[in-house]
Amino acid sequence: MTTPQSIHGIWTARWTFILAATGSAVGLGNIWKFPYMTGVNGGAAFVLVYLLCITAIGIPVMLAEILLGRRGRASPINTMHKLAEEAGATKFWGGIGWMGALAGMLILSFYSVVAGWAVAYTWLTAQGAFTGESAEQVSTTFGNLLANPRELVWWHTLFMAMTLSVVVHGIHKGLERAVRILMPLLFLMLLGLLVYAMTQDAFGQSLAFMFAVDFSKLSGDSILSALGHSFFTLSLGMGAIMAYGAYMARGQNLAKTVVTIGVLDTVVALMAGLVIFTIVFQNGLEPAAGPSLMFQTLPLAFAKMPGGALIGTVFFLLVVFAAWTSAISLGEPVVAWAVESTRLTRLQAALIVGVIAWTLGVGCALAFNLWSDVKFSVGNLFSLNFFDLLDKLTTNIMLPLGGLLICIFVGWVMDRAIVRAEADLHHPQLYRVWSFLVQIVAPVGILVVMLNPLLQ
Ligand code: PHE
Repeated sequence: MTTPQSIHGIWTARWTFILAATGSAVGLGNIWKFPYMTGVNGGAAFVLVYLLCITAIGIPVMLAEILLGRRGRASPINTMHKLAEEAGATKFWGGIGWMGALAGMLILSFYSVVAGWAVAYTWLTAQGAFTGESAEQVSTTFGNLLANPRELVWWHTLFMAMTLSVVVHGIHKGLERAVRILMPLLFLMLLGLLVYAMTQDAFGQSLAFMFAVDFSKLSGDSILSALGHSFFTLSLGMGAIMAYGAYMARGQNLAKTVVTIGVLDTVVALMAGLVIFTIVFQNGLEPAAGPSLMFQTLPLAFAKMPGGALIGTVFFLLVVFAAWTSAISLGEPVVAWAVESTRLTRLQAALIVGVIAWTLGVGCALAFNLWSDVKFSVGNLFSLNFFDLLDKLTTNIMLPLGGLLICIFVGWVMDRAIVRAEADLHHPQLYRVWSFLVQIVAPVGILVVMLNPLLQ
């Protein structure tokens, strides 16, 4: 029943899948979210759990997701329908695709707001706004941006339009070109910043904060955050990687591919963390500042170094590109489904998805100013503003749940012979390890971590 090719096309070269998937994985999750979550969750113990989750759960789940996409050769919703039928299972498995599509739109909405901040910072840095500024001045600038709903919505709108303009053109013209040049450049810039951080006195403190583990700092909540973030950062559990897998040629070594993506993603996150915490400690800032962390630290480094305005502009521009290649993959699964299963054209589908995500995004932008007092709560379990609500709902619940269902489907529902052939892991030993991780370790791990807050 395998279809040779998806109607949306196929990646032009073997390595374009790696580039696109890395483009999806490396984004704000690495440069903005990982450092601030590490700060909020107390440092090294969180980093350790995150690394464990990436290795034991994230990477095996990524292989499972690509395998599903490559066999189904369609959008995640239709792929799951097809494969459930093939396995003689209930069509409710299609729910993985539907939940993923919803999660994608929700993530896209707040993601675009934060990416908008990065666009604004490219603009500000280019004008030399931070040159010679103190920590207080830099933080006031960010406060002023957040307090201004009009400006936030404007940058959010700009970013959303950028994202959709690529999704409209399909996978070839837009995505491949952007990723090929920009990702390596981003990596080089981060490396440069890391070298800069190494010359600062606080580098050792930053290293200790990220790697000297103190388990007393670890709560059930931060374990859930680490698990959720491992899905977020690798773009797993919502169909982005499944959708890209559908455009992947056969005969590519999956094991190598997923390990490459996982390692690149992790290295970028760790580099960003080390740079940001060095600046935090060098300037006596607060590591637990939350979402504002990156925007209050990096401009300070650029403020002090020679040629900082230029370097800073290029850097923020690259962050925008990294966010862009991720945002595209958030929209692609739903748009691909609409093209397959409705009469909408790609343009119409992208517009509808864009308008919905944009509207939700406006709500997220307002959560920082006009609606900062509007809280959503369930009993005394949580009380969150709209931005945090969408973030927590997707990262801590929908993505791990999607991952859990994917593990159960690939590990227990699909025909073993098919899974074995599709995974194409040449060493029997490797296949056994992967099977064990997908059948037992990942689902049990996800369940335990997700149920833990409810048991307390
Ligand atoms: N992985 C992206 C990042 O780290 C975000 C993302 C999540 C993209 C889920 C697609 C799907 O920024």
